[in-house]
Amino acid sequence: MENMEKEAYAEIESAANLEELENARVKYVGRKSELALELRALKDLPLEKRKAVAPKLQNLRRSIESLLELKKTELSKTKTSGQIDLTRPGIKHRFGHLHPLTIMERKVIDIFSSMNFSVINGPEIETEHYNFDALNIPANHPAREMWDTFWLKPASGNEKHKEKTLLRTHTSPMQVRYMETHTPPFQIIVPGRVFRYEATDASHETNFHQVEGLMVGKDISLANFKYVIEQFLKKMFGPETEFRFRPSYFPFTEPSLEVDIRLVGGREKENDTFRAIAESRKSEWLEVMGAGMVNQKVFEAAHYNPGEWQGFAFGVGLERLAMLKYKIPDIRLFYSDDLRFINQF
Ligand code: DAH
Repeated sequence: MENMEKEAYAEIESAANLEELENARVKYVGRKSELALELRALKDLPLEKRKAVAPKLQNLRRSIESLLELKKTELSKTKTSGQIDLTRPGIKHRFGHLHPLTIMERKVIDIFSSMNFSVINGPEIETEHYNFDALNIPANHPAREMWDTFWLKPASGNEKHKEKTLLRTHTSPMQVRYMETHTPPFQIIVPGRVFRYEATDASHETNFHQVEGLMVGKDISLANFKYVIEQFLKKMFGPETEFRFRPSYFPFTEPSLEVDIRLVGGREKENDTFRAIAESRKSEWLEVMGAGMVNQKVFEAAHYNPGEWQGFAFGVGLERLAMLKYKIPDIRLFYSDDLRFINQF
C-alpha cells in the first residue's frame, strides 16, 4: 500500500491533461482499483484487525481523492487560460447619453456652421440696457409685457449706482453686445439659456433655451433670410418640410415676422405627434421662430452709422425644436432628471 501511495501521488502530479488525470483516478481509486478491492475485503477480516487497518485505508483514499481534486482545478485553469470562449455572455458596457437638448443644440450648430455662421456665447445675467432698451424696448413700453422678467436684487451697498440686472429673457441682447465690438459683414448664432417668470405647463418652463441668429452686411435682405431658414428647416426636419412667413411684431425688427412649419395636410408624411399638436392648437401650422429685418434703432444702439447696414435676425426655441423632432409631449420632461427619459436618446 505504501508503494501504491507514492506511485499514485507521482502519477497524479505528473498528469499533463484531464484525460491522464482521469486514468490515474480509475487506476488508484476507481471501483476496480487495488484500494477499492482492499476496502471491500475489510468486512472479511477479524474485528481487531479491521479496526487497525480500516482507518489507514480510508485516509489513503481521501488524500488521493483530494489530490485528484486539486490537480483537476489546476488543469482546468491551464486549459482555458489563453483561450477566448466566444460563447460566454459578455459584460455590457453602459454608455452615458447626451441630453436631447444637447443633441439638438449640436445639430443647430452643425447646420449653421455649414453656412459659415460663427457660434457666440453671452451672459445669462443681463443688464436692463442690453435685454430691453438697446433692443428698442424702453421702460414702460407695453412690449415689455411680452417678456415676464426675473429681476435681480442689486448687490447691497450699491443700490444707487448699479444698473438694474435680470436673468435674460431672450438671447437677443447678444445682438447689440456683438455689434458693439464687431464690424459687418458677419453672421452669428448665439445658443443659450433664457428665463421667464411664468407658470409652468406642458409647453412653458421658467427656463428654456434659444438660438439667436444675426446676419449683417451692406445689402442683406429678406431673400437671404428666406434661403438660410429654408436650408435650416429642411436639414432639421427633412426636405419635404413646408413653412410660411406670417407678419408679426417685435420692437427690434422691422418688418417682423414669424415662421411656421406645416404639421399636417402638406407634403410631409403624416406624423402622429404633428397631428396631435395640430389638433390641440386647432391649426395646421406651428410657429417655430420669430424673426425680421434688424430695426435701424438697434444698429444705432450699437453705434453703427445710421442707414449704413442692414441685416436679419431670428430667435428659435431649442425645446420646441426638440419636442417636434423627438416627439416629446411635455417640455417639463427635459428637466425631470428621469433616466427613463434620458436613456431613450
Ligand atoms: N427674442 C424674441 C423672443 O424671445 C425672439 C426673436 C424674435 C428674436 C425676432 C429675434 C427676432 O432675433 O428678430 O421672443
